[in-house]
Amino acid sequence: MGFKTLDDADLQGKRALVRVDFNVPMEDGKVTDDTRLRAAKPTIDKLRAGGAKVILLAHFDRPKGKVVPSMSLKPIVEPLSKVLGVPVAFAPDCIGPKAREAVNAMQPGDVLLLENVRFHEGEEKNDRKFADALAANGDLYVNDAFSAAHRAHASTEALAHRLPAYAGEQMRLELDALDRALGNPERPVLGVVGGSKVSTKLDLLKHLVTKLDKLAIGGGMANTFLYAQGHDVGASYCEKDLADTAREIIRLAGQNNCKLFLPLDIVVAEKLAPGAPARVRDVGSIDDEERILDAGPETVERLCRAMGNSKTLIWNGPLGVFEIPPFDKGTMEAARCAAKLAKEGKLVAVAGGGDTVAALNAAGVTGDFTFVSTAGGAFLEWMEGKTLPGVAALSQ
Ligand code: 3PG
Repeated sequence: MGFKTLDDADLQGKRALVRVDFNVPMEDGKVTDDTRLRAAKPTIDKLRAGGAKVILLAHFDRPKGKVVPSMSLKPIVEPLSKVLGVPVAFAPDCIGPKAREAVNAMQPGDVLLLENVRFHEGEEKNDRKFADALAANGDLYVNDAFSAAHRAHASTEALAHRLPAYAGEQMRLELDALDRALGNPERPVLGVVGGSKVSTKLDLLKHLVTKLDKLAIGGGMANTFLYAQGHDVGASYCEKDLADTAREIIRLAGQNNCKLFLPLDIVVAEKLAPGAPARVRDVGSIDDEERILDAGPETVERLCRAMGNSKTLIWNGPLGVFEIPPFDKGTMEAARCAAKLAKEGKLVAVAGGGDTVAALNAAGVTGDFTFVSTAGGAFLEWMEGKTLPGVAALSQ
């Protein structure tokens, strides 16, 4: 795809600066989900096997250019070492004498994690001098952090121009999967976009209707579309000021021959609470105090049929309030449907975004999808058709 991979690199004895995404969920200084650590393993293993010294660069949280002890990467060392099955050294700074000393002590095959790159102001400013200081500790650069590639920061962008730059294995997987889903997909391609707010996904919807054959809109954002079509939405969450925009998206879809699926039926309740009494209603038939909290069975059935008639699915955002049963039903059923088709080899099913991944995990189907991206913002920006600086820098 226009960039070098580790297969092209001479690794023996080289100091490899590897940008990973270790922005992992953490509670009381303990990593609570090691998905992103495991995602970095193939690249680290490959570099070690080739005889490289593996120097890991990462950010954690948003310390905004200051040293914030609670945002140190130190707590990652132990779980990472467990995931890799080898000791991981740590340096309390990512540049300067402390980093240099730790790098100088390395042997081929060793792994060293450097402290949070965002402890320096230069990181988020994509500062040249800071990038030079990072580059001083490496012979080559590997970017394996697709999920941070929407940031034009020194360790994701500027550094790629200072050293021979390669895409890591996870980066490669992500880009291949996204290319299969949206770049060069097998058609027909169906998109599912859910979540609560139209306002956060305007660019996404406008872009997708030009790319997809079919697009199903679900979640709270579907309420805005229903309202824009003149349906009563009761007390539902609805961005009424975006009704014109919703109509514009409907028009754009028509213009681009993208078939739009809006809910046919809805699940409503007066209260959003676990086990709250819920009713299935036709779209538009809702009491003033009721709220739409999930897609109805007919809507889900039609979506499953559309999946069966498609070759490719790209999914971002749940269809209802999946965290609170019984309003999880629509999302769970649709997820199982997609997973079954993907498992049978009938559908390329790609999903991404924090909520979506949580919903697929809750449905127990993540492993059956063709690919589930660990990226949040980067996945969304990629789906919006934007150029990701971290990817673009690798392509040069
Ligand atoms: C993420 O967790 O999505 C990435 O690491 C990006 O983090 P950021 O939004 O703080 O830049």
